[in-house]
Amino acid sequence: MRVLFVCLGNICRSPTAEGVLRHKLREAGLEGCIEVDSAGTGDWHVGKAPDSRTRQAALQRGYDLSALRGRQVEAADFQRFDLILAMDSNNLSNLQRLRPGNAAAELDLLLRRYQLALDEVPDPYYGGEEGFEQVLDLLEQACDALLVELRGRL
Ligand code: 4NP
Repeated sequence: MRVLFVCLGNICRSPTAEGVLRHKLREAGLEGCIEVDSAGTGDWHVGKAPDSRTRQAALQRGYDLSALRGRQVEAADFQRFDLILAMDSNNLSNLQRLRPGNAAAELDLLLRRYQLALDEVPDPYYGGEEGFEQVLDLLEQACDALLVELRGRL
């Protein structure tokens, strides 16, 4: 199984999702069974580490995102990944537009898939610290539900 998380810049929401899921997979002893990555629909932050506010908030909850680097979604991702999970509906519509006709990957909106309180992970980039905590709260819940699904599919 291969899972790709996608947001706009790949420096706030999707790297957080990647770090949280990697952590949960490690705890569950499933690290070697499932490949996880993240990417952005935009190209402004290619090669950059996650946003410093994202890294700090994540580290306080035990997720070290310092090794991650931004990259942009590419056509090969639609063949390489089984499941591509978007953070918001803009990301999802961009993915649907980019998707090659023969693509194997399933696309979905992460929070809606698991019927959480919100459908979208709000973009924290232009807001205050509480936005980064909300991203973590939502993504921890979503990754718990995703882990249940992934276990069932293994
Ligand atoms: P992300 O947040 O999509 O969660 O990584 C953003 C990061 C950067 C920008 C927008 C959103 N930006 O406009 O540069």
